[in-house]
Amino acid sequence: MKKKLNIGMIGYGFMGRTHSNAFTKAPHFFDLPYEPVLKTVCARNAEKAAAFAAQWGYERFDTDWRKVVESPDIDVIDIASPNDTHHDIAIAAAAAGKIVLCEKPLGRNPAESEAMVAAVEKAGVPNTVWYNYRRTPAVTMAKKLIDEGRLGRIFHYRTVFLQDWTISPDLPQGGEGLWRLDSAVSGSGVTGDLLAHNIDTAMWLNGQISEVSALTETFIKTRKHSLTGEDQAVTIDDASLFLARFANGSLATFEATRYARGHKALYTFEINGEKASIKWDLHDLHRLEYFDYADESQLRGWKSIHITDGDHPYMSHWWVPGLQIGYEHTFVHQAADFMMGLGAGTPVAPTFREALATDYVVDAVLKSGKSRQWETPKTA
Ligand SMILES: NC(=O)c1ccc[n+]([C@@H]2O[C@H](COP(=O)([O-])OP(=O)(O)OC[C@H]3O[C@@H](n4cnc5c(N)ncnc54)[C@H](O)[C@@H]3O)[C@@H](O)[C@H]2O)c1
Repeated sequence: MKKKLNIGMIGYGFMGRTHSNAFTKAPHFFDLPYEPVLKTVCARNAEKAAAFAAQWGYERFDTDWRKVVESPDIDVIDIASPNDTHHDIAIAAAAAGKIVLCEKPLGRNPAESEAMVAAVEKAGVPNTVWYNYRRTPAVTMAKKLIDEGRLGRIFHYRTVFLQDWTISPDLPQGGEGLWRLDSAVSGSGVTGDLLAHNIDTAMWLNGQISEVSALTETFIKTRKHSLTGEDQAVTIDDASLFLARFANGSLATFEATRYARGHKALYTFEINGEKASIKWDLHDLHRLEYFDYADESQLRGWKSIHITDGDHPYMSHWWVPGLQIGYEHTFVHQAADFMMGLGAGTPVAPTFREALATDYVVDAVLKSGKSRQWETPKTA
């Protein structure tokens, strides 16, 4: 009999769904030391929480996260609520001795994130942050190729995350579904929301970012607030571009915006090394583009590798070679890796401390956008 791992999910929105799906599917496709149990889902609206609990198979629902944190039958607090809730929930959960999983970014600012890291480390509780893109098989494959030295010395890293859903000046800010536009809740705009992903992946693949120079812009200066009905100044960054230097000497460009008409979630990266280059695109997430200079010169060219074979990362757990998986599976992989790490007693990356490194880069980018100076991110 496997030990049961009782999950207390905070939030039933976009991420509440991806995480609930991940805990449901992971034990079917991976041999795990635990049996995750969807024990309770928490959100402030009882009717909606009850409906979500029924739809996803939670045993009960709650409307106050403090009650979930204090429940003796809960092993894991999974924070899938907006950024302004992460700090208080994570610290209370760690103090109660719970395992803590948290959505990104950790806090709204480095002070919140540092306090969260200190809390889980003081309590000695297992923890991880849902930077799920690391566990896209093609991205994990990129990591493997880099670690094997196949790219050689890396010169360039360029990456974008482009969306187009905030272009209308009539879109309100704040409240359900629109909290990302309200910096009091989100902490920042596209830098913490979108670029945090690019930064996490980049530092995982290519090491620490040592300095940044950023350009940020708020295109729409005031918006009606959904909760107050008042016109209020917009204080998030609508677009954020930065140049960076990595500790290994390579150079980078990062860009994110929600004003790129025609783009919904164009997350791409390209890495140019001395021996080879790699490209990846979220819209075609099961492919890794690879150019190897060692190939015979007449046949040299970009290969589009379909990352679906049994010897590709994670793929032996799924269907048969040639059949692709998608976005939801990145979360299934993270849930599975987390439970395997828990069984083995080993931390599962990214831990809170590793995610703090990303928050420090986000902070340096926002500072540079204001100061118009190069900034050096703190190291975690
Ligand atoms: N890893 C990723 O790719 C990814 C993608 C989207 C969002 N996120 C992160 O996930 C978190 C949630 O984002 P989302 O898109 O799911 O948001 P969402 O707006 O879809 O859902 C948020 C949920 O939190 C609930 N909530 C709000 N305040 C609460 C409180 N005090 N107590 C309990 N529940 C509360 C809301 O009712 C809602 O169910 C954010 O931190 C966001 O940055 C990560």
